[in-house]
Amino acid sequence: MSDIRPETKQAQARKKVLVLFSGRGSNMASLIAASMAADYPAIITHAITNVPDAGGLEIAERHGISSKVLDHKEFDTREAHEQALVELINAEKPDLICLAGYMRILTDKFVKQYRGKILNIHPSLLPAFKGVDTHHRARLAGVRIHGASVHFVDETLDGGQIIAQAAVPVEQNDDDESLGARVLEAEHRLYPHALELVASGKVRLSGSRIVVSNSNKSTMGGTLFSPSIEAKKYIR
Ligand code: GRF
Repeated sequence: MSDIRPETKQAQARKKVLVLFSGRGSNMASLIAASMAADYPAIITHAITNVPDAGGLEIAERHGISSKVLDHKEFDTREAHEQALVELINAEKPDLICLAGYMRILTDKFVKQYRGKILNIHPSLLPAFKGVDTHHRARLAGVRIHGASVHFVDETLDGGQIIAQAAVPVEQNDDDESLGARVLEAEHRLYPHALELVASGKVRLSGSRIVVSNSNKSTMGGTLFSPSIEAKKYIR
C-alpha cells in the first residue's frame, strides 16, 4: 500500500506546513505521520534541506512531499543562502514553518519576516541548555529531569515563547546516547502535539505571551518527579 496521502478537500483546509531540516529527519517523520490522520489540523506540504545527502530527503520523497535541496556551501554568504531560501518559501506560501533539526542560524531579518509562524524543537527543557550537546551538558550538570521543548523562534539562539515541553528522567547509569534516545522518543510525541496546538489555534501568540486555550496537563498535578515519589506520599 502506498503511504502517499491523497490530496483531499479536507487536506486543503488544513494549515500548510513547510519543514526545514539538515539531518536524519526523524522529527519531520513524526510530523508527517501525525498529519496522516484526517482530523489533524496541519499537513506537511514541503520540505527543504541545506544538506544534499540529508537522510530526511528519502523520508520526504517516500511520502510524496515536495522536497528541495538548497546547499549553503554553494552560496558566498549566509545572507545570499537565506535570500534563496526566502524565495523558495514564499513561492510555496506555507502557513507555518517547522524547523526539525535545521542546523543553520537564521538571521534576524528572516525571523522577523515569519514571526509567530516558525516553530523549532530543541532537545532540552528550555531555557536550560540552549545550543548543542544538550544531553552531555545535562548529565554533567547533574539534572534529574531533562527533556525537549517546542517553541516559537525569535532572534535569539533557541529563544522564543515555549509552546510545549516534555520531561523525562535522567537515570543513574545513563550515558549521552541512552539519555538522548529517551529524549528523542519524547520529541516524536511532543512535536506533533505542539504543531497541532498551534495549527488548531489552541495556542497562539498574544504580543510576547503565549495564550493556551486548554492548559490541561498530562501528568497528575502537572508535575513529573525524578526520582519518583512513592504513591500518595506527599498528598494530603
Ligand atoms: C533533534 O534532537 C532536535 O531536537 C534537534 O535536532 C535533532 C534532529 O533530529 N533540533 P532529527 O533530524 O529530527 O532526527
